[in-house]
Amino acid sequence: MAQFSNDQLKTIAVMTSGGDAPGMNAAIRAVVRLALSNGIKVKGIFHGYQGLLDNQIEDLSTRMMANIIQKGGTILKTGRAPEMHKPEARKKAADHLKSQNIDAIVCIGGDGSLTGAHLLWKEHGIPIVGVPGTIDNDIYGSELTIGFDTAINTAMRSIDQIRDTAASHDRLFIVEVMGRNSGFIATWTGLSGGAEEIFFQQNPVTVDHAIEHIKRGMARGKMSSILVTAEGEKPGRAYDLSEAIRKKSGFEAKVCILGHTQRGGAPTALDRVLASQLGAKAVEVLQNGQCDLMVGIMKNEVCLVPHGDIAQNKKAIDLKLVKLAQILST
Ligand code: F6P
Repeated sequence: MAQFSNDQLKTIAVMTSGGDAPGMNAAIRAVVRLALSNGIKVKGIFHGYQGLLDNQIEDLSTRMMANIIQKGGTILKTGRAPEMHKPEARKKAADHLKSQNIDAIVCIGGDGSLTGAHLLWKEHGIPIVGVPGTIDNDIYGSELTIGFDTAINTAMRSIDQIRDTAASHDRLFIVEVMGRNSGFIATWTGLSGGAEEIFFQQNPVTVDHAIEHIKRGMARGKMSSILVTAEGEKPGRAYDLSEAIRKKSGFEAKVCILGHTQRGGAPTALDRVLASQLGAKAVEVLQNGQCDLMVGIMKNEVCLVPHGDIAQNKKAIDLKLVKLAQILST
């Protein structure tokens, strides 16, 4: 586990990066309040890595953390910064941190953001601790990421509403959820919403299989069905699916793309508790002189995962949940 000399830990910075996720504010609050109460100054980096490149850095106070635990989004703003893939950008980022006398960072974000953190440590010795914050829940080493629980509850509530109209009109619906590279939201939303089939990149379910499933249901008098799909590279995969089903079976499916509604809203209690625990642990870890690792959660215990392992491993989706959704929706 990477170590740094923490006797000079006077100032830390906190940032959010990548897609926002409900609960990020609760994590920021935990970092700021714990660090300040331990005598460490805290700065906020605004707009993620892009803000770091643009030197958008300001002091944070404990009062600024008032009334944010219940808010979605991130008060620090966020962004995606493809420029950070370039070594010269990472050098610029490190120079800004040094000129601002920032001794260490807590970075709240997804796997891309934590990979960036790993490179800043390896190339420039910037001590960073990561906190998993993404609605996708696709970070290796942590059973849950901040924002996932809120997102799946939002999506599940939408499916419940769609089910009312689907049943009233005897219609087939395809509901598209987020997760361009990952099927956790689709799987959990599909199972909790009673969907017939769940589509995502790593799941081998076919259009033919879904049609057979729908037909079997119809033979038993089931007149409405709901399929859930994760978005593809760009939102809109549900339309392709609907077209493929129409061509092969003649069934007309209504499409509903939930999109960014899943990223907003007040975080659930689970996300607030998770964010508070992980944010506080990140500060503790830095005070112990440990870095280049993420604080995660495994079997209800906070755990530490080297950043290097995150980039090299993929978190697997439990396909048994997908199978269970199929069985229970017959
Ligand atoms: O943050 C993760 C995520 O919401 C994915 O689920 C989704 O595929 C992607 O971000 C959308 O990103 P953007 O808001 O940048 O279009």
